Amino acid sequence: MTRDAAIRLARATDAPGVAALGRTMIEHDQGLVTTADDLLEQSVFCERFTGRCVDSTRREYVAVSAASSVIGHATIARFGPSLLRHVATLSVAVHPLYQRRGIGRALMQSLIDSAPCVCVGNRLRLELYVRADNRRAQALYASLGFEHEATRRQFVRTPDGRFVDDWIMTRFLDVDAPNQ
Ligand SMILES: CC(C)(COP(=O)(O)OP(=O)(O)OC[C@H]1O[C@@H](n2cnc3c(N)ncnc32)[C@H](O)[C@@H]1OP(=O)(O)O)[C@@H](O)C(=O)NCCC(=O)NCCS
Repeated sequence: MTRDAAIRLARATDAPGVAALGRTMIEHDQGLVTTADDLLEQSVFCERFTGRCVDSTRREYVAVSAASSVIGHATIARFGPSLLRHVATLSVAVHPLYQRRGIGRALMQSLIDSAPCVCVGNRLRLELYVRADNRRAQALYASLGFEHEATRRQFVRTPDGRFVDDWIMTRFLDVDAPNQ
């Protein structure tokens, strides 16, 4: 819970709101690696989102405004192969009109708190991928203990043909009561 939003696990019924948020993030060019070309048809997105909500290898959270709009979305997903099940990737997005109000931090904390339920083992590796020019996301991640581990050079090619590096940021988490 923040002053401006309630944070909760996503439900299948959030699919249209999450899809709308994704379109808004792309329209506002929010430093992501997706464009309008990547948007799925609404019915396809909703079907996949519904499937993801019941998948034990991942958790999806939403931030919901007082007017019940989805204004933030975050995902933690662990790797599938048996030797990588202590590793998870995280992602987060907050609607441009609601940024800088603590919602991104609250969503990220929910992901971190849920990592022991999603991953396997007593020492977890949480990783994020963030464009080298996305300073505000880097600042958020660093404030939560994630460290720059590696740079993937020229990983992103923008629509105007520029190349942008991408960072891998990681944080390790020791778990007292491991999942398995
Ligand atoms: C990155 C993002 C999720 C942050 O969400 P937010 O709700 O604005 O973040 P918060 O208000 O919780 O701020 C948390 C911290 O993030 C950092 N931060 C957020 N916005 C920032 C900005 N404009 N400039 C610098 N640091 C910023 C700060 O460290 C901040 O802590 P502080 O307020 O104590 O200084 C949001 O800007 C966003 O959705 N960006 C577009 C999508 C994106 O880049 N996602 C990550 C892809 S890897």
